[in-house]
Amino acid sequence: MPNTLSQDYKRTCVWKDDLFAGKVVFVTGGAGSICRVQTEAMVLLGADAVIVGRNGDKAAAAAREVAELRPGAKVLSFAVDVRDINTILEAVKQTVESLGRIDYVIAGAAGNFLAPITGLSANAFKTVIDIDLNGSFNTAKATLPELLKTKGSVVFVSATLHYRGLPFQAHPAAAKAGVDSLMKTIAVEFGPLGIRSNALAPGPIEGTEGMSRLGKGSEHNRQRSYEMIPLGRYGTTQEIADGTVYLFSPAAHYVTGQVLVVDGGQWQTTSPRMDAYPSVMLELAKQPNKI
Ligand code: COA
Repeated sequence: MPNTLSQDYKRTCVWKDDLFAGKVVFVTGGAGSICRVQTEAMVLLGADAVIVGRNGDKAAAAAREVAELRPGAKVLSFAVDVRDINTILEAVKQTVESLGRIDYVIAGAAGNFLAPITGLSANAFKTVIDIDLNGSFNTAKATLPELLKTKGSVVFVSATLHYRGLPFQAHPAAAKAGVDSLMKTIAVEFGPLGIRSNALAPGPIEGTEGMSRLGKGSEHNRQRSYEMIPLGRYGTTQEIADGTVYLFSPAAHYVTGQVLVVDGGQWQTTSPRMDAYPSVMLELAKQPNKI
């Protein structure tokens, strides 16, 4: 069970209760932890939602749970693999048939694991590029015609991995660099048509799938990691929700082509997983090169 938002969010957040009333948000990766809280915040503040994911059962379960957050909320789910644009186009068609419109898109479907380049086959690299980068393009391509009708807005889920060289993350870092670039092109091509395009780049967020998969380490390393974050702690899912709400809200109506980094300033001071650098690279050089 991801670290989800509760109805307390409405009491504690700074946003108006009905900020997104009558609007519809379409979310890829909405069953995962980051996109799940983004969706929850939008629904708590009045939006209806569509959660699409590769695992249809997981997406359906997430949709049922998110719908319970607000009486009257409609939250649909569809089984979609973002690598196949036809599955997204079908979900968009059914969304419009059922909910009438799409105002906001969160392109968040992603895959990741830790691997050095020697342990990363060509297919492994391609798989992550296909999900993270090509999947983001497919999502935008399939939803932009609907956003044109509503003068809507898209938020890509990015990262800070590619702001410098980072070992074991060649694949998602290359993908997210592409996502940031795609986001900016959409801002420029579609801005004149009334569409805004931005990205949100989470840093280390407590209780997320990413942290549990990628952030394993000793208590000593964790303490060291806190010390290297200017704000002295990992972020919360609520802080990701707030960043997302901001980017979709009227408060950001003059903001497009931007990456909002929500990381407590982490990337400015440190690069995660560099503790054993460079000795770990010298050790890995002895391993066979996986093709
Ligand atoms: N290290 C090295 N290579 C790996 C790997 C790892 N930990 N996990 C998968 N791969 C490789 C596979 O070996 C395969 O390459 P090969 O054909 O040369 O052997 C390639 O990646 C594709 O793996 P596969 O399992 O067939 O792909 P998939 O489409 O089922 O899964 C992944 C996609 C690999 C991204 C998988 O990790 C995933 O589904 N993740 C979803 C959840 C997630 O990552 N969330 C993000 C949290 S930050």
